[in-house]
Amino acid sequence: MTRVSQLPTLSAILFLSILCSVNVSANSQELIDKGKTLYNQNCVFCHQADAIGKAGFAPSLSNPELLAIASDKYLMATIRDGRVGTSMVPYAHLGKEKIVAIVAYLRSHETLTHRSTEVDKQRSAQGDARKGALWYRDICSTCHGPEGDGYLAGSSGTAIGKAGFLNKASDGFIRETIKYGRSNTRMLPFYGSTGLANLDEQEIEDIITYLRTLNK
Ligand code: HEC
Ligand code: HEC
Repeated sequence: MTRVSQLPTLSAILFLSILCSVNVSANSQELIDKGKTLYNQNCVFCHQADAIGKAGFAPSLSNPELLAIASDKYLMATIRDGRVGTSMVPYAHLGKEKIVAIVAYLRSHETLTHRSTEVDKQRSAQGDARKGALWYRDICSTCHGPEGDGYLAGSSGTAIGKAGFLNKASDGFIRETIKYGRSNTRMLPFYGSTGLANLDEQEIEDIITYLRTLNK
């Protein structure tokens, strides 16, 4: 009885979702093309063709681990506001519509399951900033600079100690990045026995807690 009455509803939903997906992908191909043009006009010089990034100069924006955990809000706000004290300048003048198109283009490189909602909802880091400072100095400062000042201070990694990054990244985003790294970049996974430095959960909490004290 229930089965029979649910059948028409189910097929209606199926039909509607097929309609919707056709529409969305038609739209988004147009949007992606528009975004690609805008990307090539504004971003390609630093972030390179296909947004693969350039070591010591600009991070990859087509990196699968980044796209999987970066929300649209994170990407759009970073593009809009830039990152003060780095060469990532603000692009607010492009306006929301063009920034949406650029994000659609970046997303067209996405290959891993998207999980920014879960990642951004993760608990806040609870660690010991003093211990985190030691881990940071020993492991992270080689690439990110002694205070996370990034490329302009001669480092090979981004400015993770500056407000431009810290104010937009959730603790979950930072935690996942430290754990799993970003493939095909120098940012390696640092978690567990397969990780570069074999950090455990608590040590990662300590590092995030330390980073939160920088925020310049
Ligand atoms: C061997 C060099 C290297 C080491 C060591 C390193 N990183 Fe990175 N890290 C990078 C690079 C390079 C990037 C940017 C990736 C890219 O180019 O796309 C990055 C990116 C990041 C990001 C993302 C920042 C953003 O702009 O989105 C975080 C967070 C981060 N690293 C934290 C750490 C922490 C914490 C440590 C120490 C446990 C560490 N990294 C150690 C090279 C390194
Ligand atoms: C003059 C060089 C330059 C240009 C042009 C540029 N960027 Fe950036 N971008 C950077 C640098 C450098 C960083 C990393 C800053 C840091 O150290 O935190 C960055 C970081 C980013 C990030 C954060 C990535 C992450 O790993 O968290 C996004 C998103 C981004 N840029 C998007 C764009 C877009 C979209 C454009 C074009 C509208 C653009 N950028 C143009 C240099 C540039």
